[in-house]
Amino acid sequence: MKNFQKIFYSIFAIYVFSCSSENLDAPFKVSSPNNSLIATVSLDSGLPYYSLTFNGTPIVDRSRLGIKTDKLIFSDQLEVIKVKRRSKDKSWKQVWGEQKIIRDNHNELELTLLCKVEKNKMILRFKIFDDGIGFRYEVPRQNQLSEFTILDELTEFNLSEDSPSWWIPAYAYRRYEFLYAKTLISEISRDKFSELVENLNGPRIGPEAVQTPFTTQRKDGTVVTIHEANLANYSSMALKATGTKNLECDLFPWSDGTKVKTSAPMKSPWRTIIVGASPSDIVMSTLTLNLNEPNKLSNTSWIEPGKYIGIWWEMIGTNQSTWGSGPHHGAKTEKVMKYIDFGSEHGFDGVLVEGWNNGWDQNWCCNGEGEDFGFYHPHPDFDHKLVRNYAKEKNIRIVGHHETGTQIENYESQLDSAFAYCKRNGIRVVKTGYVNDGSKNIKRTGADGKIYKEWHHGQYMVEHFRKVLETAAKYEVSIVVHEPIKDTGLRRTYPNMVSREGARGQEFNGFMGINDNNKPNHTTILPFTRLVSSPMDYTSGIFNLTEYRYFAPDNRKINLNHQIPSTISKELALYVVIYAPIQMAADLPENYTGHPAFQFIKDVPTDWEHSICVDGEIGEHITMVRKDIASDDWYLGSISNEKGRELLISLSFLDSDKKYNATIYRDPESGGWKKRPEEVVIENRYVDSSTELNIILPPGGGQAIRFTPEG
Ligand code: NOJ
Ligand code: CA
Repeated sequence: MKNFQKIFYSIFAIYVFSCSSENLDAPFKVSSPNNSLIATVSLDSGLPYYSLTFNGTPIVDRSRLGIKTDKLIFSDQLEVIKVKRRSKDKSWKQVWGEQKIIRDNHNELELTLLCKVEKNKMILRFKIFDDGIGFRYEVPRQNQLSEFTILDELTEFNLSEDSPSWWIPAYAYRRYEFLYAKTLISEISRDKFSELVENLNGPRIGPEAVQTPFTTQRKDGTVVTIHEANLANYSSMALKATGTKNLECDLFPWSDGTKVKTSAPMKSPWRTIIVGASPSDIVMSTLTLNLNEPNKLSNTSWIEPGKYIGIWWEMIGTNQSTWGSGPHHGAKTEKVMKYIDFGSEHGFDGVLVEGWNNGWDQNWCCNGEGEDFGFYHPHPDFDHKLVRNYAKEKNIRIVGHHETGTQIENYESQLDSAFAYCKRNGIRVVKTGYVNDGSKNIKRTGADGKIYKEWHHGQYMVEHFRKVLETAAKYEVSIVVHEPIKDTGLRRTYPNMVSREGARGQEFNGFMGINDNNKPNHTTILPFTRLVSSPMDYTSGIFNLTEYRYFAPDNRKINLNHQIPSTISKELALYVVIYAPIQMAADLPENYTGHPAFQFIKDVPTDWEHSICVDGEIGEHITMVRKDIASDDWYLGSISNEKGRELLISLSFLDSDKKYNATIYRDPESGGWKKRPEEVVIENRYVDSSTELNIILPPGGGQAIRFTPEG
């Protein structure tokens, strides 16, 4: 057995040690189990601070802690009145995931702080793992305090080095759906983003800030990712830029300017700093999941990983069908049945049907409301009973679609009926969508009857997304969210939260022309930024990479201004690089029929026993390997940015007592995203754990491999 397997399968053990007689004089130190990370918490004239070192090198310099509320003081004039320490080493099982067993091994420091003036209490809790640190604020139940408002969170992240960082702006009209900018931390600004990536014309509402996960890499190679875990009943954290290497917690405000409306007892989300000696370490981090609560669903048998095809790319990509009714309506009964036939023939689990419900004709993107924009009334072209029965017969599940148009109140008023409809009709997975919110454009009716506009990442929406997830769970439906709130690990608590978009996905290669679509380096940045919080519904697998888009459904001329900046081999590799328990094969069935590379999409699993990032540089390249949960097969995905490169990959992860047949799907050596992107070389060779594999990736290319043990 390999060493890492031994670790993962080590006896589930837990030990707890607590001590309340510790000296109450700051500073307080807490170190990770292997002592590589050390956090120090100090008090200076009643103000709390923390700092962090990695292998003795400062990573985060002294940074402020505290929250400002409308009631009591939780930020200054504080003293420590109690110290508790605990340690834990316990493994737990995922319902599905990148790996079956996750080890939670950390040391904990709990400081109870008293405000000397008002005598109120707050707990500062730190958990420190070998892959990073999490800390949060807890306001316990106490006299005189029930409801209160957080006006500001004072947490700072004063990074010790002004290092290159990969970021997308917060408070911008397209939420998370941007390409990444790379600048020094001190250079973060909207103007810089407009200069480097995309013009962010438009009103500047909100501070200069970036979304999390935010990643930076120091000169010595150390990678630091700042994010949050277990975001619940709170507002999302962006990071405010200061023109220096210091970042500040910036909570998306309510329309009245306050940050969080809450009551005691309260726990903030965990502020997390993931630290790795290399980019690959960051990809392997399990900190976010370890800081979420265990699974709350007693029965999870209805949550099934799998792959789906769907009526989607023909609207968003090729532009030959429409969501709304008319001669080109996509979700017509006969067409859905053809997709079901194709899916069933090729072993898919699901068929996504978008544009199945009424309300899509003129309303879905803007003003849809009420029954006219309903989630349980099928379109007249879509015979849902026939489709339901046919899908069942063919062992296919229909993946439903709830495009809310961000009409939150309308959707919430139909939530129960919408998911009850799913349950009645055998719909076990629903893709939800929140287009057209303009980021701070979400209508909410206040208690005074007035309409207020909220941020997509504010507390109002954090609570909305959770409500949808909980309602879906009640009806045994899993959710794939497009235009979601960011992922902070909630999938551990609600494993029906199977996937989400939350970044620029393949769709941009559909509706954007060659100047504005995804660039080849985009998918080499995602694993080290957005995917640190995983999974993502990127929708890989486009085979027709050129000459695919029509000017309009009734204009059958091909628009040559569109090209997917990828190769077929890279599209295959993305199934291994980008993790999701539910993955789409996004292209049209006709582009897969008879194509030899389609076999890889049919074979590749979506639930894994182990995953390893064997190599990677942010924005350059990445190679992931994963072991199937249901067999002894391993899969490899390797991708490159605009540059071609040659990598030597050791196959030491394979079982040492087996020989494997490797089925390799690769670009021709002189190919790449600009030259012959649709050519795939498929070859077989025998390998074992001592093999060093030479992987040649042409510019913008990729390679996908299935390793099957002999015998
Ligand atoms: C945007 C989503 O990302 C896409 O997948 C969906 O098809 C459209 N909105 C319509 O809901
Ligand atoms: Ca989207």
